[in-house]
Amino acid sequence: MHGVATLIGKNLPAPFQEWRVRRLLLQHERFDSKYGVDTQMPVALADLETNAPGARFANRYQGTPIAFLHRLIRRLEINRERFTFIDLGSGKGRVLLIAGQYPFKAVIGVEFSKTLHDIALRNIGKFRSAGASRTDLTSINMDAEEFDFSRFTDKLVFCYNSFGAGLMIRVLDNLEISTKGPGETVFAYLGAMPGDVEQRLKRFPIIERAEVLTEFDTYERYCIYRMIPQN
Ligand SMILES: C[S@@+](CC[C@H](N)C(=O)[O-])C[C@H]1O[C@@H](n2cnc3c(N)ncnc32)[C@H](O)[C@@H]1O
Repeated sequence: MHGVATLIGKNLPAPFQEWRVRRLLLQHERFDSKYGVDTQMPVALADLETNAPGARFANRYQGTPIAFLHRLIRRLEINRERFTFIDLGSGKGRVLLIAGQYPFKAVIGVEFSKTLHDIALRNIGKFRSAGASRTDLTSINMDAEEFDFSRFTDKLVFCYNSFGAGLMIRVLDNLEISTKGPGETVFAYLGAMPGDVEQRLKRFPIIERAEVLTEFDTYERYCIYRMIPQN
């Protein structure tokens, strides 16, 4: 159904497509100005901590389309109160703020860049002051490779094209180890998935797969997996 919608969207006349992109931009600008936060402007890698180990495999900061993330969260049949939402490469924290509007057990972002992490902390503070958050929001300044998933039982792990294939596979190895413990793990990946990563994830059932339009007038693929323990 989603595939059909994307196909129709891609074949719309240019003015209509331009209108859709403008609408996305406007939604994102309105979100930032409503809460006095800064999530909109992309940040080039060259403007981040280029000497940090994490920078070697990193992609630049750009925020996930807001309406898409709301849809993803609402469509997933999970008991949110039991699930911790984890964003790998959380940047300025837009995803944390959106997920924070749902009653997840907790929402945690992992970001290698101190510059982006500091912006995320300021954004979270403003969002909390506005009374917009329904759960505990945290940004952790850490390389995703160091993150210990085993502390969490039920978890929804999100990643928007944060880093290259080698690192993604090591992170997935860590995540998969945690699935052998109690709880359910759902993994949602947004962005062009490198072939090695797709191969690595092939063993898991897919919950949903489609494409989404971004404010940069590009389509990003996304795929959601149920990471069931393997023997
Ligand atoms: C495309 S942005 C996504 C931002 C956010 N998740 C969102 O969707 O709004 C990718 C983010 O991953 C971060 N990143 C890249 N490599 C990382 C690493 N090794 N550990 C943690 N974060 C990383 C980048 O700094 C950037 O903020």
